[in-house]
Amino acid sequence: MNLATYLQERKTYVEAAMEAHLAQCTEMPTRLREAMQYSLTAGGKRLRPILVTAAAEAVGGDAAAVLSCACAFEMIHTYSLIHDDLPAMDNDDLRRGRPTSHKVYGEAMAILTGDALLTEAFAVLSEPSVAACVAPEVLVVVIHEVAMAAGGAGMVGGQALDMLAEHRQLTLPEVEQVHRCKTGALLQAAVVCGARLARAERPAVAALRRYGAAIGLAFQIADDLLAIEGTTEMLGKKVGNDLARDKATYPAMLGAEAARARMHALGAEAVDALTDFDERAAPLRALARYIIERKS
Ligand code: IPE
Ligand code: IPE
Ligand code: MG
Ligand code: MG
Repeated sequence: MNLATYLQERKTYVEAAMEAHLAQCTEMPTRLREAMQYSLTAGGKRLRPILVTAAAEAVGGDAAAVLSCACAFEMIHTYSLIHDDLPAMDNDDLRRGRPTSHKVYGEAMAILTGDALLTEAFAVLSEPSVAACVAPEVLVVVIHEVAMAAGGAGMVGGQALDMLAEHRQLTLPEVEQVHRCKTGALLQAAVVCGARLARAERPAVAALRRYGAAIGLAFQIADDLLAIEGTTEMLGKKVGNDLARDKATYPAMLGAEAARARMHALGAEAVDALTDFDERAAPLRALARYIIERKS
């Protein structure tokens, strides 16, 4: 398979679905909808929604049937970026190649835009057209998985640990915990939810959970390496901020080479978790490589 073509096709597919959803949000204040649209349509790799579809297909499911769930993950991720960039958090001015939400809409509106995206994600996930096609017991499990991954025991918890860790020396297991929560939890849940919606058997879900954990951590190590070795042009966000804010990162702790070695080991672990899967898991295998080799 050609990964670049696959990624481009999937990105277009997911973006069209998100645009269609936003177009239906007519009962919101226009300014709020504009702000949601501004951040949602700013680009980005769309990795989480792509993982939802790839995981569904890896277990014999259909990408179209998990599209709402895919959109929900991108909405939650986008909200997390808007809040992550706020002055009270990482205080970043550039995201996805554009001024950050609070720079354009002000802090209050940026906070509310994040709140709306998070809440809207659960509306998308449970909308009547989805509920009509998915068994209620499956949908409830998926909604719970998303909520746990996004909340205090997942992404938000990781963000809290990340903030609490500024200017504090963490141990390596503590750094890993921050990464697994703030970034890994949502990536892992994307894979698990795609598979669950496609009615995957228990062993397949367990294997995909291992895959998700490995790529989740690898992704954050890659992000922290790119923050040192990449450029603003490549990434669409400012580089060098982690050092300035004394962030707990793998490269800061172990040095770039050891961090890279750990990232590659995690990539191998991810591919290894897919041993019992057939050719339908080819995109997931390719995505594990992409996550560690990406340049943006
Ligand atoms: C960046 O995520 C923030 C982290 C969770 C490390 P992405 O690198 O997936 O950001 P986009 O969606 O492509 O902009
Ligand atoms: C962002 O982590 C993680 C979430 C938004 C959950 P970072 O703060 O490390 O990512 P960037 O570098 O701003 O994208
Ligand atoms: Mg941050
Ligand atoms: Mg940040």
